[in-house]
Amino acid sequence: MLDIIENYPYLCYEDDKLQIQQKEIEAIVENKASPFFLFLLQRFQENVLEIKSKLGKHIPDLFISYAAKANYLGRILQESHKLDLGIEAMSLFELKLAEKAGVPFNKIVLNGPAKTFDELSYAITNKISHLNVESLNEIKQVEKIAENQELVQKITVRIHPKLKDTTERKLLIKKNSKLGIDYYRGIKLFEYAKKSPHLDPIGVHTHVGTNLTSHEFYDELLGFLNEYVTDLEDKLAISLSEINLGGGLASRSTLEKEGFQLEKLGEQVSTKMDDIENKKIIFEPGRYLIEDSFVAITKVLRTKKSWGRKWAFIDVGANTLIPMRYSHYSVVPTIFKGKGHYTNIGGPLCLPVDILSDEAVNFEIEEGDLLVVLNCGAYTISMSEQFGYPRPAIYQLTKKGLTELIKPADDMNQMINDSFYLS
Ligand SMILES: Cc1ncc(COP(=O)(O)O)c(C=O)c1O
Repeated sequence: MLDIIENYPYLCYEDDKLQIQQKEIEAIVENKASPFFLFLLQRFQENVLEIKSKLGKHIPDLFISYAAKANYLGRILQESHKLDLGIEAMSLFELKLAEKAGVPFNKIVLNGPAKTFDELSYAITNKISHLNVESLNEIKQVEKIAENQELVQKITVRIHPKLKDTTERKLLIKKNSKLGIDYYRGIKLFEYAKKSPHLDPIGVHTHVGTNLTSHEFYDELLGFLNEYVTDLEDKLAISLSEINLGGGLASRSTLEKEGFQLEKLGEQVSTKMDDIENKKIIFEPGRYLIEDSFVAITKVLRTKKSWGRKWAFIDVGANTLIPMRYSHYSVVPTIFKGKGHYTNIGGPLCLPVDILSDEAVNFEIEEGDLLVVLNCGAYTISMSEQFGYPRPAIYQLTKKGLTELIKPADDMNQMINDSFYLS
């Protein structure tokens, strides 16, 4: 029997045994210590092609910039670069990662509410083309650095859009958050930049959250942005050539489940924004590209029953599978042994939040079983901590079905030595 898991075309069961990208699970786990992560390069590549082709149908000048913060493994950045994506970075560390992956500075977007002088200088000296600013003091520092370098720095202003109260309430990044600047003060930044011989205000940027699945939301956002751009033209004679819509799209699997269509989003952009032929439209997806391109393989260490519940404890915990409001971790068995008791899945940490999801699974689980956790690519490894345990190794599943180590597990002895550094 061949059973494909809905919305995860790379997973299927043959005779109740899991295959990932047509590769049998036994061959994948062979000679590897549990737990480990697996980067599904093919899925990542398909996600990139999907977003580029679907949005690109209606957007003539589209620039997709992968948000490194979602998962900054070197291999992912290199693959993004090979697929002609830019990189969205938020720190000197991420700038240097992008550089090491071979990404030129004209394809790097730099964001952040409190970039340091060093970060700004590094970016400007290297002739970064997409610099988002969000405060008057920052814009003045950028101006100073550009003046010292005798150049004109292009800038984009990150604003928080004006949206209906009902829409605002649903956003992760709300209007009084620390990120971006209100649209009125944003105008002041444009005004300041326009007068400076060392600044060239070319665009507007906005990013209001993650896991977005609503076409109505984009209608509203794009409507606001179009008015904002028109206002800048009418009142300040500033003509913008870049509209950066930020990140925030839900993963491809989630969008497909929710019936959200990227092609329709492209169409929304092209119909809502005036003069689309003369505007570069930027997206900075992280979650969309990487969330479902990663799985974790984990062993059941212990089971127990308590307060009427069955628990299974796996050997990967909330120190790498960070529990976030928008996490979508879910578990499937490597060998399906039939339906069983509803079982809650927890990690090994002594923390009540160290549970994989609120949903129990109902397949047979015993100690020693191997399970696969889906949707582990976004904001896991990049946010992981050495809380109680070393972080797991990361392998890549190649197109030929081979596994390749791309990041070793933390070395426990090294962790112990570091802890006693001064002793
Ligand atoms: C400015 C900016 N762009 C893009 C992203 C990526 O968001 P997502 O992973 O939801 O696509 C983030 C995430 O925090 C961000 O802050």
